[in-house]
Amino acid sequence: MTNTNLFNSVRLGDLDLRNRVVMAPLTRNRALPDGDAPHALNAEYYAQRAGAGLIISEASQISPEGKGYAWTPGIYSDAQVEGWRQVTDAVHANDGRIFIQLWHVGRVSHTSLQPNGQSPVAPSALAAETQTFDGTAFVPTSTPRALDTSEMARIVEEYRIAARNAKKAGFDGIELHAANGYLLDQFLRDGSNKRTDAYGGSVENRTRLLIEVLEALLEVWPAGRIGIRLSPFSHANGIDDSDPMATFAYVISKLNGFGLAYLHLVEGETGGTRELPEGASITALRALFDGTYMANNGYDRDLAVTAVESGSVDLVAFGRPFIANPDLVERLEQGSDLNEIDPATLYGGGAAGYTDYPTQKSKAAA
Ligand SMILES: Cc1cc2nc3c(=O)[nH]c(=O)nc-3n(C[C@H](O)[C@H](O)[C@H](O)COP(=O)(O)O)c2cc1C
Repeated sequence: MTNTNLFNSVRLGDLDLRNRVVMAPLTRNRALPDGDAPHALNAEYYAQRAGAGLIISEASQISPEGKGYAWTPGIYSDAQVEGWRQVTDAVHANDGRIFIQLWHVGRVSHTSLQPNGQSPVAPSALAAETQTFDGTAFVPTSTPRALDTSEMARIVEEYRIAARNAKKAGFDGIELHAANGYLLDQFLRDGSNKRTDAYGGSVENRTRLLIEVLEALLEVWPAGRIGIRLSPFSHANGIDDSDPMATFAYVISKLNGFGLAYLHLVEGETGGTRELPEGASITALRALFDGTYMANNGYDRDLAVTAVESGSVDLVAFGRPFIANPDLVERLEQGSDLNEIDPATLYGGGAAGYTDYPTQKSKAAA
C-alpha cells in the first residue's frame, strides 16, 4: 500500500527521510562577515531543525560574483567548506539530512557586493526592479552587464566546483536554485533574457544554460542526490515572462530525462498568494514531471496533510514556519500552536530571532 502520510518516513532516491516535511531554503544573512563562511551559530540553527525529513540550506553563492546580499554564505572557498562541514556534522549528529542550495544571483546584486566593485552579470543589461541588502540598508540593485557567450563555460564550471565542494562539506545532496528571479531564472524568462545568441530567443535556447549546469552537476553527484527549484508564476525580484506556462512546460519536460531526486515548485508568488494568473496551472506542470514532487508556498498543516494524502504531492517544504519553530514537525504532528515569526530579525544579526525560538519542550520547562 502506498504510504501517503506527511509524518511517515519516505524514500528519496537512495536516502531514507524520517518524514515528508522539508525545511525550505531560507536566507538568514548570518555567515562570517569576513569570507562568507558558515560557523558554529549556523550549525546550531540547522541542528535545531534536524527533525525535518530534509533540510535545504539557505541559498549559497557558487562564486564571489554570484553574491547579491550581505553575509550570505558561499560554497567556493576552503573556509566555507570547513564552515559547512560543521553544519552538516551537526545535522547528521541529530539524524537529519541536508542538501545545499546552489545560487548565483545574476543581476540581483549591487556593485558594493561584487569583486572589485564590478557590475553584476546577467543574460541582458537590464536592471532588476528590486532591492538588495548591502549590510546597512535595502538599496536598488545595480544595472548588470550582459554575459558574453564565451563566459558561459566559466559559469558552468563554477557550478561544478561548488557541487564538488558541497560533497567535501558533507552534504547529502544539492538543490539547484533556478527560482525567484536569480541568474538561471533570468535566463529562462523572456522578460530578462533578450539575448540573440544560443542562450536567448527560443525557450530551448533560454533553457540551455540550466541544462548545461545540470549536466555538470550530474558529473559530480548521482541524479538521485540532485533536486531543482523553480518558481514558474512568481514575480520575485522583478522577474517576468510573457508565457510562463509554455516556458515551464518545456523546462519541466526537459528535466524528465535526468532522473533527478525531486522537482521543487514555489506555487504562486514566493511568500505571497497561492492564486495563479489566468491560464496557469501547477497541477498541469506537476503532471509533466515523472519524478518526486516537492511543493512549497503558504502551506499549513491541513493543506500539507491533504496534499500528501491526495498523492499529488510527495514532499512539502515549509519556509517561514521553520524559522520560528525549530520543532515544527512535532508541532504539526500534534496539531499544536506555532510561534510567530519576528520580522525584525530575519536578515542578519546573531542568535536573537535565529537560535532562540523556543520549542514546545523548552517552553513547558520554562
Ligand atoms: C527570510 C526568507 C529567506 C528566504 N530565502 C530563500 C532562499 O535562500 N532560497 C530560496 O529558494 N527561497 C528563499 N525564500 C523563499 C522560501 O523558501 C519559501 O519559498 C517562501 O517563504 C514561501 O514558503 P512558506 O510560505 O512556507 O514560508 C526565503 C523566504 C524567506 C521568508
